[in-house]
Amino acid sequence: MAIARRQFFQQMFTGLGVAATLPSIASSAWPGNWRTLQAGSTGNPILLDSNENAYGPSPQAYAALEGSASAANRYPKHEYEDLVEAIAARHGVKPEQVTLGCGSSENLRMAVGTFLGPGKTLIYATPTFEFVAHRAADTGAQLAAVPLTKDYAHDLDGMLARASGGVGLVYVCNPNNPTATLTPRQDLEAFLEKLPASYYVLMDEAYHHFVMDAPEYTSFLDRPVDNARLIVTRTFSKIYGLAGARIGYSVAAAETTRSMAPQKMMFAVSVLGARAALAAWNDADAVPKGAGRNAADRREFYKQAKSRSLEVIESQTNFVMLQAGRPAQEVIEHFRANNVMIGRPFPPMTDYVRISLGTPTDMQEFWRVWDLLPAKNLPA
Ligand SMILES: Cc1ncc(COP(=O)(O)O)c(C=O)c1O
Repeated sequence: MAIARRQFFQQMFTGLGVAATLPSIASSAWPGNWRTLQAGSTGNPILLDSNENAYGPSPQAYAALEGSASAANRYPKHEYEDLVEAIAARHGVKPEQVTLGCGSSENLRMAVGTFLGPGKTLIYATPTFEFVAHRAADTGAQLAAVPLTKDYAHDLDGMLARASGGVGLVYVCNPNNPTATLTPRQDLEAFLEKLPASYYVLMDEAYHHFVMDAPEYTSFLDRPVDNARLIVTRTFSKIYGLAGARIGYSVAAAETTRSMAPQKMMFAVSVLGARAALAAWNDADAVPKGAGRNAADRREFYKQAKSRSLEVIESQTNFVMLQAGRPAQEVIEHFRANNVMIGRPFPPMTDYVRISLGTPTDMQEFWRVWDLLPAKNLPA
């Protein structure tokens, strides 16, 4: 059990197609995660590499974690149900439509395990969050990667073309990691209508709460569609600052949720994590405060980038893709040597680096280290 869990974490942040530094997608059982591969920095690095919430959990969630310490010797009993009921009530769905996971990664993996396998196909964008493709490869499914459009949206026509005649799962990450960009709601609705009935759709809304001023975006939980083939995932790791507590969830039709249940790990959600998540969920300030602070951090990032004539992709998340004007690997190594971790390479965007937004102090250090980069090769 301990070994399986370690492997799970080790495989979490694999870099799809980063052949130079990481094994290929066909062999995802590799011996290190992105952070251990970046090792070599000197103690307490600044972590701008995993799109975490640099400000930590809210005081309420923090208090729930502390207050739960004395229950750490017990298996969870009612904690799972309490959180499911709260989530279901807010989304206006029945509790049997909600599944909690050990991070939304577990929910994503459950969908992969249920709807993929030999003879089936995962259709996904490139670049996107690689985890789903890695787990799909493990099942023996075919992988159909479809490049993003020039606006960094999912190429839904291209994805539809790959779906013809097959069976499987389409993975849509909206907003997309690593580009921090949106795929318009109306295009997704049209896509869902045209998609062959033999495909399920996994809609990953991990960064939903950071979207601002984007009329083209509406979550499939905020305005549901009647489609039993749609599974929406969310996480407590990002806006709620609970990545280390490992809580995520999926919402789907009751029959779809039931079909994924055999993939669920027993007691995957801890007493501490569930209680912290419930406290965060019930904290009316958590989302507006986190989103507002993130929007201010994004604006400051753009300002700093502009003052250096650097190009960024406009972000709807808590990270930004920055055109580095040189190979990402060089920039990553430069930052690592200066004790700052930034995102892994995301082929084919080999000249971009993904920067998770940190606290203002973190970001001051980021820009200080950026300014130490040799000036050669910077975009004119
Ligand atoms: C798009 C996306 N989905 C899901 C996850 C998994 O997050 P967690 O398992 O912490 O919920 C991540 C993590 O960074 C992500 O970027």
